[in-house]
Amino acid sequence: MDLVPAIFNSLAAIIVIFMTLPIILALPMMLVIPIGLFIVYRQISTQREIRVELLETKAGIDGTIVELLNGIEVIRISDSVELEKQRFADKSYYLRKKEMKHHYQMAKYDILKFINEAVFTVLMIGISVYLATINVISVGNVLTAYLCFAQLIKPLEELHRIFDELAECVVLSEDFFNMLELPCDFSYLPSQPQDLTKIAKPLISVDDISFSYDDGTKVLDGISFTVDEGKFIGIVGPSGCGKSTLSILICNLENSHDKAKIGHWPISRLSRHDLAAMIALVPQNPFLIAGTIRDNICYGLAQKVDDAEILAAAKKAFLSSFIAELPDGLDTVIAEGGGNLSGGQRQRIAIARIFLRTPKILILDEATSALDNTAEKYIQREIEKLIKEHNLTVLSIAHRLTTLENCDEIIVFDDGKIVQRAKYHELIESKGIFSDMYHGRIK
Ligand SMILES: Nc1ncnc2c1ncn2[C@@H]1O[C@H](COP(=O)(O)OP(=O)(O)OP(=O)(O)O)[C@@H](O)[C@H]1O
Ligand SMILES: [Mg+2]
Repeated sequence: MDLVPAIFNSLAAIIVIFMTLPIILALPMMLVIPIGLFIVYRQISTQREIRVELLETKAGIDGTIVELLNGIEVIRISDSVELEKQRFADKSYYLRKKEMKHHYQMAKYDILKFINEAVFTVLMIGISVYLATINVISVGNVLTAYLCFAQLIKPLEELHRIFDELAECVVLSEDFFNMLELPCDFSYLPSQPQDLTKIAKPLISVDDISFSYDDGTKVLDGISFTVDEGKFIGIVGPSGCGKSTLSILICNLENSHDKAKIGHWPISRLSRHDLAAMIALVPQNPFLIAGTIRDNICYGLAQKVDDAEILAAAKKAFLSSFIAELPDGLDTVIAEGGGNLSGGQRQRIAIARIFLRTPKILILDEATSALDNTAEKYIQREIEKLIKEHNLTVLSIAHRLTTLENCDEIIVFDDGKIVQRAKYHELIESKGIFSDMYHGRIK
């Protein structure tokens, strides 16, 4: 909208110039355009990379601020304020240096443009006045030449501003298109809806799964097992042996390449919608949203529930007395990420969700690790009731071995492999990692 009228004005000026003024005056007037365009071209081509770098550095600084805010307690406790100030100052210094260089270059090109226009204005006035004094053109033509020249150079002034904006948009849109080229989340690929009421046996089967993250290190190595419906299976192993990774594969958050199945369906071929109806995961670090306790307990629920049902679920998750003590009860607002709650309260809210959903398969990944013994035992009993009432199948990952006492079977992992499989008391009595962990010989 800015440029098009200016270009039309400029074209009209060119026509008037060539129609009313002698060629000796018209040609030097035209020279201002190629020189002006060349300067704008140089300005854009030399500054483009710097602009990209500036945008990236600014995004990096934003990331640093978020990182610092998340770690503010650790920074205070470890008294690393000076260190962080220095880290931030270094980044700011780098950005400032780049900004200064960019503005210096921009000013340089602005000066060149100004000189170009000024030189040609003076030249045009000089030539036209001279031609008027020797009676080649009239005094009126001098005025025409001046007015036309002003219209001629107008788009040049606009051009630079518009190309600057355009260059910035190109940088941002390149980012956008690069993002579009990222692979789609495989777990949202189109899949056939399945009849979830008819599930073949066994309910879960994992057949020779090996898995590595992007860095190539093998996390799971040839894992195979099956779980029948209604079973309560414990998963145990030293930290970093791949327990959470297995739960992630069963939830289809990483690709198991058809080696993990629910019934006869490879998990990776089931839609997210079907999986959400069948599996509930209580992860190691519960995800809470900035909203009320009600919003958080009902998070992801397909059906509407009333407060009585929410309070009943909260009771099973040992949250009743906590909610009762809050002046706003279920309407109490939770800060982003559950910042104003204790670790145990966060876990109990995440657990309360499963009592509203009653899925077919429940995966608990250290779901009660932050709870005291009373709360843990209470919730354990409620989950065991749920298993009986709804024929629920549970995979429970736990470091606190006593929570797995009533398991139908415990699978023991070490270094990405299954090393033991038996009941709780059998494992304690036989030699191996489990009894070592039980007796405190390995943590
Ligand atoms: N997103 C990831 N990217 C790369 N490596 C990862 C990722 N998540 C986990 N790992 C690596 O995979 C290995 C297994 O991690 P996993 O979280 O499955 O262990 P875990 O048995 O659940 O441990 P813990 O008992 O401490 O929770 C670890 O060595 C870890 O460093
Ligand atoms: Mg884990």
